[in-house]
Amino acid sequence: MSSLFISLEGGEGAGKSTQAKLLAAFLRSQGHQVVLTREPGGTDLGATLRQLFLQSDSLTPPTELFLLMADRSHHVSQLIKPALAAGKIVITDRFTDSTLAYQGFGHGIDKNWIAQLNAEATQGTMPQITFWLDIDPEVGLVRARVKNHHQDRMEKLDLEFHQRVRSGFAHICHNEPDRVKLVDSSQPPEQVHQSIIRLLPQRLVSPP
Ligand code: TMP
Repeated sequence: MSSLFISLEGGEGAGKSTQAKLLAAFLRSQGHQVVLTREPGGTDLGATLRQLFLQSDSLTPPTELFLLMADRSHHVSQLIKPALAAGKIVITDRFTDSTLAYQGFGHGIDKNWIAQLNAEATQGTMPQITFWLDIDPEVGLVRARVKNHHQDRMEKLDLEFHQRVRSGFAHICHNEPDRVKLVDSSQPPEQVHQSIIRLLPQRLVSPP
């Protein structure tokens, strides 16, 4: 069995978590071993970092960035790399592109610096396929609010912030068309799932 690293990316309310679960179930039904994880929060340490990240009111953007990098470094070395080495498919709900989009485009932190930190934290372990679930932030923020009943620290940031994040994902998608696949996330979940399936490498859909 050959390993594969897949990430799902997108703004608030894009439906990534739902799609990650549907994709994992589909790939398992095709006979693959799948590890479903997320950032921040894919490990026990990461769960603590995620809580701090989403709930601390006093975080500055650089502090936020270092928390995310601590989470990523641990996540890659403890969970993602071993799973890939064991021939599994790893699906992560958010990865490096979120940092460039949120902390780089959203908060305005130097993008080259983020790229350097991402390279250190991942040790070069990058997804072969990334699905960018695109949604208009005005629609996504309402969806997220309805789903979660309350807003976390990031969701509370203004619409302009979330629009910059969206333009960040668009920029990454434009620059890396071989890796990053655009998926229209305004469709109903089952349709979004089918769009994702159609973009998967054929070898995954009909294993030998
Ligand atoms: P989510 O996993 O429920 O989408 O929430 C995680 C939040 O963390 C979301 O608002 C995006 C944010 N985030 C960043 O700002 N930068 C990152 O690098 C990552 C992984 C997440």
